[in-house]
Amino acid sequence: MSKTSAAITAVGAYVPEYVLTNQILETMVDTNDEWITTRTGIKERRILKGEGKGTSFLAINAAKDLIKKRGIDPKDIELVIVATATPDMKAASTAAFTASEIGATNAFTFDMDAACSSFLFGMSVAASYIESGRYKNVLLIGADKMSSIINYKDRATCIIFGDGAGAVLFEPTQENLGLQDEYLRSDGTGREFLQATYGGSSYPITPEVLENGGHCAFQEGRTVFKNAVFNMADATVKILERNNLSKDDVNWLVAHQANKRIIDATANRIELEQEKVMMNIHKYGNTTSATLPLLLNDYESQLKKGDNLIFAAFGGGFNWGSIYLKWAYNS
Ligand code: UT7
Repeated sequence: MSKTSAAITAVGAYVPEYVLTNQILETMVDTNDEWITTRTGIKERRILKGEGKGTSFLAINAAKDLIKKRGIDPKDIELVIVATATPDMKAASTAAFTASEIGATNAFTFDMDAACSSFLFGMSVAASYIESGRYKNVLLIGADKMSSIINYKDRATCIIFGDGAGAVLFEPTQENLGLQDEYLRSDGTGREFLQATYGGSSYPITPEVLENGGHCAFQEGRTVFKNAVFNMADATVKILERNNLSKDDVNWLVAHQANKRIIDATANRIELEQEKVMMNIHKYGNTTSATLPLLLNDYESQLKKGDNLIFAAFGGGFNWGSIYLKWAYNS
């Protein structure tokens, strides 16, 4: 009997309506469109407005988009994973609420957090459940309301992040398609350079913390940048070498959208042509767990069955890696 692989068989997405442009940011912090554009490639990002609307709002809408496009019965979904660094609340998972709201009442659910690598690592987890034969329909959602942990007085951080969500469905296939290989790594010594410190069990929130924005994300951009460039490119090279792939075998690079310069450096390292590099950072910024599925959604109509996709991500933790996946359908 041929091997069971885990294929992505549907994609959905949601971004909020409100557009935060570089020009608006110019009125909020000491920055300018030219600096942001040349240093990051970002022109605008989406922000979720409205009281009580959290990451689940984004996740639910992305999942509903997928369900409508694919025409599946939500009751057939067996597992819902929400990859996120900004869950609705500390306890009571975002995934459980999301699953109930979309009618996935036969599913078990959990959240996964590996910062900007949450979705990449989530692909590995979702695929493992399918490959084991235990489940046949796994919904993986990458969703983050980054604006909930951004200090809009910190120009080094607030210009980068945005809100959004994307969802993919994993199903088994006996064809040689779907997730082929992965190279995933973590290094906890990197956490001092990128973190949202307070609110966790080691660092309770106090009135002083709130006043100083300590509950928000902080990064030492230059150190994160250097590590991201090195590790994303290194993981990508490793996955190509391990699978005997040359750059000509690669149809698409699906790289985490944190900074256009990091994505370009990864593509340059494997000498990949620009037209094979998925890019939407200019319109969404860094949506953390949502960047990879938002790319798949934007490029879905250009993807062909059998295409070789190389995913790459790097983020807080540090967590990073690369995944090789063969696209499973023509849309
Ligand atoms: O998703 C995964 C996690 N995050 C990342 O991967 C982000 C990685 N880091 C980066 O993308 C970049 O480091 C940033 C975009 C955050 C910063 O770009 P940079 O080229 O590394 O700038 P820098 O931090 O070295 O700062 C250069 C200068 C500084 O001024 P001086 O010291 O040279 O006078 C900063 O104060 O730019 C200044 N600066 C700004 N100027 C205008 C920093 N932020 C801004 C800003 N507008 N928003």
